[in-house]
Amino acid sequence: MTTLQTERLRLRPLVAGDAEAYAAVRCHPEVARWLPPVAGEPVEAVRGTIGRFAAAWRERRYAPWGVFLGDRLIGHGGLNFVPEFAATEVLWALHPDAWGHGYATEVARAALALGFDTLMLDLIFAITLPDNLASQAVMKRLGLTYRRRVDYREFTDIVWYDIDRETWKAV
Ligand SMILES: CC(C)(COP(=O)(O)OP(=O)(O)OC[C@H]1O[C@@H](n2cnc3c(N)ncnc32)[C@H](O)[C@@H]1OP(=O)(O)O)[C@@H](O)C(=O)NCCC(=O)NCCS
Repeated sequence: MTTLQTERLRLRPLVAGDAEAYAAVRCHPEVARWLPPVAGEPVEAVRGTIGRFAAAWRERRYAPWGVFLGDRLIGHGGLNFVPEFAATEVLWALHPDAWGHGYATEVARAALALGFDTLMLDLIFAITLPDNLASQAVMKRLGLTYRRRVDYREFTDIVWYDIDRETWKAV
């Protein structure tokens, strides 16, 4: 499992003890509105998510991290394998009071470096709803390029951006 310190943030895999703090971010209405719905009671639901991330860390050597500012869990971010596309996405979600500081971009840069420099992935994508302009701004800041609209689970017509390793090395 990869634990990292970026310039301002600590990135480490989420554990069961993070469930309450993670639910406060993941199920915050301003965050949840952009993400696939979680079913049932928030803390129980995110325990399932943490378990799936832990399995991915074991089996695939990557998964989204918990993002910590000091000791405070402010969100999640990192690499996530998506079976429907047989490809790896970079994702992010932060508590609203942590927006506007460049933290999502900082986490995502660390994730892209892990993906391209260590894991030797060829391509990393990011998807979001067409009206999630904040998330698309992060994608553009990172050097990802808009390619097309796709359907994903309960979402139709979402926007797909991606970047390949050669382009990443050049930005
Ligand atoms: C998407 C999301 C993570 C973007 O967060 P964000 O804080 O806007 O993105 P960044 O971390 O890249 O921060 C960029 C902003 O910080 C500002 N900033 C302030 N200090 C900065 C610094 N030291 N370095 C870089 N940027 C800084 C930038 O100017 C920019 O502000 P602007 O958008 O007003 O120009 C956030 O809106 C979110 O969590 N949304 C809900 C969940 C979600 O939509 N997730 C994505 C689903 S696909």
